[in-house]
Amino acid sequence: MKIILASTFFLTAMTITGTAIAAEPAISDTEIKPSAPTLPIITDDTALFEQFGGREGLTKIMDDVMVRWLANPRTKPFFENSDQDRIKLQLVEQFCVIMKGPCEYSGRTMAEAHRGMNVNEGSFYALVEELQITLNKMDVPFRAQNRLIAALAPMHRDIIDK
Ligand code: HEM
Repeated sequence: MKIILASTFFLTAMTITGTAIAAEPAISDTEIKPSAPTLPIITDDTALFEQFGGREGLTKIMDDVMVRWLANPRTKPFFENSDQDRIKLQLVEQFCVIMKGPCEYSGRTMAEAHRGMNVNEGSFYALVEELQITLNKMDVPFRAQNRLIAALAPMHRDIIDK
């Protein structure tokens, strides 16, 4: 039930944030280098970062969810031949920055990282669903989950069908 609710929220968030972030630099702008502030920071309140267990908690989350992505037939083909440890580390950094934690993101932009991958919608939602299963398992409060997912939602346009 939680997953269904969060998925509905995700779709709504995609619609809302589509207009809400219009004034921000486009994440797909290839002129923006990864070190530039291309990631939306969703809070001034470090309580959110703490609700995910800080950097240590995010690392545990990525360890758990990568196993799920490698087991799910819709995400497995993308991750099985990739450098999983590097992706996990960059996801930790990315989520940490989004939650205004004390980190820097050293990876590429979402457009750069997913170019030529042909990720479709089904794979995108499968990835998010597996993440939600992990977040529930780790007892991350539902409201905190939704705040993260609302920040990830607008990234879909730089990831799907590229
Ligand atoms: C909101 C959703 C997503 C986020 C936040 C995200 C985030 C990231 C990040 C931070 C990286 C590392 C960047 C870098 O390599 O410099 C990455 C790489 C990667 N992502 Fe995603 N991603 C998302 C969706 C997806 C989906 C749906 C797939 C496939 C089903 C996918 C597959 C990959 C793969 C295979 C790489 C490694 C690319 C490489 O090594 O060249 N991602 N992603």
